[in-house]
Amino acid sequence: MFQFSAERAHHFSFKCLDIISSLPFGNTMLSALFKPNTNLKQAIEVAGLRFQHPVGLAAGFDKDAKLMNTWPYLGFSFVEIGTVTPLAQPGNDQPRLFRLKKDEAIINRMGFNNLGAKAAAEKLKSRKNNQIIVGGNIGKNKITANENAISDYLICFNDLYEVVDYFVVNVSSPNTPNLRALQDKEPLTALLLAVQELNQSKPKQKPVFLKIAPDLSDTQLDDIIDIVKITKIAGIIATNTTISRANLLEPQSHIDNIGMGGLSGKPLTKRSTEVIRYLSEKSNKAFPIIGVGGIHSPEDAKEKLAAGASLIQLYTGYIYEGPGLVKRILKAL
Ligand code: FNR
Repeated sequence: MFQFSAERAHHFSFKCLDIISSLPFGNTMLSALFKPNTNLKQAIEVAGLRFQHPVGLAAGFDKDAKLMNTWPYLGFSFVEIGTVTPLAQPGNDQPRLFRLKKDEAIINRMGFNNLGAKAAAEKLKSRKNNQIIVGGNIGKNKITANENAISDYLICFNDLYEVVDYFVVNVSSPNTPNLRALQDKEPLTALLLAVQELNQSKPKQKPVFLKIAPDLSDTQLDDIIDIVKITKIAGIIATNTTISRANLLEPQSHIDNIGMGGLSGKPLTKRSTEVIRYLSEKSNKAFPIIGVGGIHSPEDAKEKLAAGASLIQLYTGYIYEGPGLVKRILKAL
């Protein structure tokens, strides 16, 4: 896969998985290779939802819910689709996905390329396998000004309400201009209160999580703890990609050539764990945290859980280590 450009490799592996999955015995074969033997001890309840075990697939990997009939056989207990936006949008110009092999990292500036919330909902409606929990990660279109952002999140919430088990409000991607300004206390509180008001109007309320950046200061993390309390959301997903380029092994010229984007993978492991630990300790474990950022090994997974995460998600580690990573982590847990 590493012979292809990063984005082609992604599409190629999706095609392969889709083909394998549709063959007779394809899913049986995937299960035999990659699905861990979970036992009840690993089942876990978070925000009123029962997860078979704590390992899920992070947002951005299957934005349009294309492989929902395959993920259960690859061993994940939950998959977060999205980020979706109300309208389909192409995302940024290519190239927009880069490997930093020496660092086991990725820089991406995809820019919420997706087919839109309604298309994802259709895909989810037609899924054949309801074994795993599905999260819906929602955002705003690039053309929507921040003043009108709330309405984009509400549209996505309505579009996905019937077909997801939990929601994630994403205000932490570095690749949509000004999106991260919505992380400030005032606009963020207003946004989450609006989402929760809509949630309350539904026959059954869905847990709402907020996904935050690893680049927030301690004061901003204190604000986040307050905001969870004020808006009564279910919890936090920590963290998204970072804009930092500190301590990388790749030559500076390579990093400079790549340019803007969010960095994920091994260089993020430590900071994302710090954020999880800070939120967990400072809030006195007041809410569940889903830990994500640089999990490449069973040890990384254990560290995230020890720092206070109730569940964990994989992305870059899954690319570098391959699909056996889920099974290896669960065996160690
Ligand atoms: C992401 N991530 C992401 N997050 C999100 O909330 N919405 C999204 O659309 C995306 N898209 C996306 C694309 C690509 C190519 C990457 C590498 C990442 C962030 C991802 O879910 C995760 O939070 C970070 O990547 C950190 O975890 P890892 O990759 O270090 O395990």
